[in-house]
Amino acid sequence: MVWDTLRAHHAATAERRFETLLDTARAADFSATAGDMVLDYAKTNIDAAARDLLFALLDQTGVAAKREAMFTGAAINETEGRAVLHTALRNLDGGPVMVDGADVMPDVLATLARMADFAGSVRDGSIRGQGGAITDVVNIGIGGSDLGPAMAVKALAPYHDGPRCHFVSNVDPADIAAVLRQCDPATTLVIVASKTFTTIETMTNARTAQAWMAQSVSDTGAQFAALSTAADKTAAFGIDPSRVFGFADWVGGRYSLWGPIGLSLMIAIGPEAFRAFLRGAQAMDVHFRAADWHENLPALLAVVGIWHNQICGYPTRAVLPYDNNLNRLPAYLQQLEMESNGKGVAMDGTDLPRASGPVVWGEPGTNGQHAFYQLIHQGTGVVPCEFLVAARGHEDDLHHQHQLLVANCLAQSEALMRGRNLDEALASIADKFTGDELDRQARHRVFTGNRPSVTIAYPQLTPFVLGQIIALYEHRVFVEGVVLGLNSYDQWGVELGKELATALQPVVEGRAGLDGKDASTAALVGFLQRNGV
Ligand code: F6P
Repeated sequence: MVWDTLRAHHAATAERRFETLLDTARAADFSATAGDMVLDYAKTNIDAAARDLLFALLDQTGVAAKREAMFTGAAINETEGRAVLHTALRNLDGGPVMVDGADVMPDVLATLARMADFAGSVRDGSIRGQGGAITDVVNIGIGGSDLGPAMAVKALAPYHDGPRCHFVSNVDPADIAAVLRQCDPATTLVIVASKTFTTIETMTNARTAQAWMAQSVSDTGAQFAALSTAADKTAAFGIDPSRVFGFADWVGGRYSLWGPIGLSLMIAIGPEAFRAFLRGAQAMDVHFRAADWHENLPALLAVVGIWHNQICGYPTRAVLPYDNNLNRLPAYLQQLEMESNGKGVAMDGTDLPRASGPVVWGEPGTNGQHAFYQLIHQGTGVVPCEFLVAARGHEDDLHHQHQLLVANCLAQSEALMRGRNLDEALASIADKFTGDELDRQARHRVFTGNRPSVTIAYPQLTPFVLGQIIALYEHRVFVEGVVLGLNSYDQWGVELGKELATALQPVVEGRAGLDGKDASTAALVGFLQRNGV
C-alpha cells in the first residue's frame, strides 16, 4: 500500500524541477547531522510528503524492531542461523552484548587487547623478522578480508606511521608477484586473513608467500599471523595459536574490518588511532539506534536510496568521494552493498517482489569529472550521486588545492541540479555561431539538470570520521535490506562460480576431459590450451 502511494506520488511529481523546492528552510529541513558530520539530501525530488511515506515504509517493514534485534544479538541472519554483531566489535564501553545467553564482550575486548599488543610489538620492533624489525606487512585475503583493510589503510594514509602495508587478493599470480618483489622476506610479516580459512585464492597465495619466505627464512612461522574464525585450519596451516586472532561467526566477512581483519590497519596507524576508528563507528551505532528517522543519517541515506532505486527506477548509484584517500571506498561499498542486498529471494524464500539493490560504482573526484561525468550530466539515464567531502585535507601547505577540490565537489551537485537550458546555451555561444549552426551547437551544450545527489560532509578524514562513514553505510545497507525484505547477511550467490571453478581446474590443466561442458566453454578451453594455458 505504501509502495503504491509512493509510486503514485512519484508519478505526480516526477516532472517538476526540484530546484524550485529549494530554499533556506528546505536546506535545513532536508539535512541532518551526526556529531560533526552532515548529510544533505535537499538536492533531490523528495518532498515532505514523500519523506513521510518513506518513513512509513520503515515503520511498516519493522525496521526499528529489527534494528534492536540486530544490536541485541538475535539470529537475524536467518539462512545461516547467526546473529549479526559487527557492532559488538566497536562497543568499546557500551556494556554487555548477549548471544545465546552469554556476554560476548569479554572475548571481543580480550582479542582487541591481544591485537594491540601484537601490533604495538610489530611497530616498536620487539616482534622482528629474521633480518630485523618488520618493514613490510603483506595482508593476504580477498573480499571482506581485503577490501576493508586495504580501503582503510589508504584512507588513513596521513596517520600511517607503522611499516609499509601491502594487500594481495587476486589468485592471478601477477598480484602476489608484484607485491613480493617489493619486500625483503627477512623483514616481512605475512598476515593470512580469511574468516573461513578455506578460500582458494587466499590459501593459494598464502602457500606461495610461505614458499617465497622459506627460501631465505628458517622459521617462517615467526613471520606469519592468521585472522580467522577457524582455529583448527590455522593450526593445520602451521600458524602458532599465539599469532592467530579469532572472531566469531556472527561477524560477516564484509563487516569484519572492526576486529582481527583490521590488524594490518592497526599495525599501520597504531592501536590508539585504531580505537579512535572504532569509536567513530560506535558513535554512529549509538546515533542509528536512538535518533528519530528525521535525524537518523543511516535511515535517511537508506530512504533516499530506496526512493531513487525502487520508486524512481534508477538502476545504479555513484559514490563520488572528493577525498582521494577514499579512492577504494567505492570498491569497498560494492561488496558491502551488492553482496548484501543483491538478492532475488525474500527472507521467507519467495521471489523478491521488487528489484534487488542497485549497482554501486564510483571513483574519486575530480578524476571522475574527466571520465564518466559526461554521462552523468548528459546521458539519457539518471545516476543519483553521493558526494563525500572534507572541509580540510591534511596538507596544510596546499590548502588552496583543497579549496579547489571542495569547489569542484559543490559545483558538480549544483550543475546536476540546475543544468543549463537552451536559452542559456544559446547565449553562451551567440558570439561564435549564427542561424541553424547556433541552434545545433547550442543543443549539444544543454544540460537537462534536475538530477539528484546527496552530499556527506565532515571536517576532516580522521580515524574517527572514517569509522563514522563506514558504519553509516553499513546501517544504510541494513535498513534497505529490511525494507526490501531480504537477508543482507548471507552470500549464496558467490557459491556456484566457486564450485564450477573447482571442477574446471583439472579441465584447464588438461587432466580431465571436456565431457558435459557447454560448447562455448569447451571452445574457450581449447583456444586457451592451444595458446599455452
Ligand atoms: O565472496 C564471498 C566471501 O565469502 C565474502 O563474503 C568474504 O568476504 C570473502 O569471500 C572472503 O572470505 P574469507 O574471509 O572466508 O576468506
